[in-house]
Amino acid sequence: MEREIIALLLEQEVISEDMVDKLKNVDKDKLLDSLKEFALKNTEQIKYEDIRRGLKTNYVGQNIYCFPKVFSTNTLAKFLASKGAEDGTAVIAEVQTKARGRSGKKWESPKGGIWLSLVLRPNLPPSKASLITLATGVAVAKTLISLGVDAKIKWPNDVLVKGKKISGILTEASATLNEIDYIIVGVGIDINFKVKELDPELHDTVTTLNEELGKSVNENDIISLFLKEFEDIYDNYKSGNVEDILGQWRILSDTIGKYVEIRHPLGKVNYGYAIGINKEGCLIIEEADGQIEKMISGECRTLSGR
Ligand code: BTN
Repeated sequence: MEREIIALLLEQEVISEDMVDKLKNVDKDKLLDSLKEFALKNTEQIKYEDIRRGLKTNYVGQNIYCFPKVFSTNTLAKFLASKGAEDGTAVIAEVQTKARGRSGKKWESPKGGIWLSLVLRPNLPPSKASLITLATGVAVAKTLISLGVDAKIKWPNDVLVKGKKISGILTEASATLNEIDYIIVGVGIDINFKVKELDPELHDTVTTLNEELGKSVNENDIISLFLKEFEDIYDNYKSGNVEDILGQWRILSDTIGKYVEIRHPLGKVNYGYAIGINKEGCLIIEEADGQIEKMISGECRTLSGR
């Protein structure tokens, strides 16, 4: 009976929030199996078999759910996590209809991009959660560099090519006082479409891999590469190898050594030279009067090189 309900609901092209709501009380194993079955059949470009063919990981992406259209892979991944999805499970969509960016912004997700969320269960205290965002930035940047572009990371987690944003990361965690229950790391990478397809206000600040290389690169191959890069750094994260992550981040950083403006959610603004990053992922800046300040979050804008 439950399988029939799932099958019926999954016939719909769009996995809506309403649908997820209806599935809340369905048995966990049946739900995960049925969703995976559905995911296997329905996508056009992002193909489970093609990702698997190039996949060299031990556990990240060994469980993959690829959907043609989802409102937000992060929201769906959260739901799957609440149903017991394992560490390293990947949720991927060809198109997202209500994707979320940082600071409550919307995120455009047309066909041709990589829109992917990972369910992570690192068994660490909540204080360690923010470092995974920096680690993910490193994995994205290294993946793009291996494809031939000069990718850099702007604090905290935008990946840029020649100063234009090509990728963004949205991390969401669920935790008790002492332990992370799960982290959802959502990654958006602009691959095989033109910037002109996006909202005009993004035309001057965003780029795509296709624009940078002047050719298309198969998204499935890039996903396999990214999952391997991610697993390598995620293993370091889980074993507490913070310095390795920060060391890689510093090398790839487009922020350290620059004069920056940090705009905080409640309106405060700091200006200073970015001189470092600490193990919580905070940016350390030196202000004009020599004062050293620790930036926990905020929108970073680079004003000049040193
Ligand atoms: C940012 O604002 O820079 C973060 C953008 C994160 C977008 C990705 S796409 C996959 C995942 N699903 C979402 O709804 N958001 C993230």
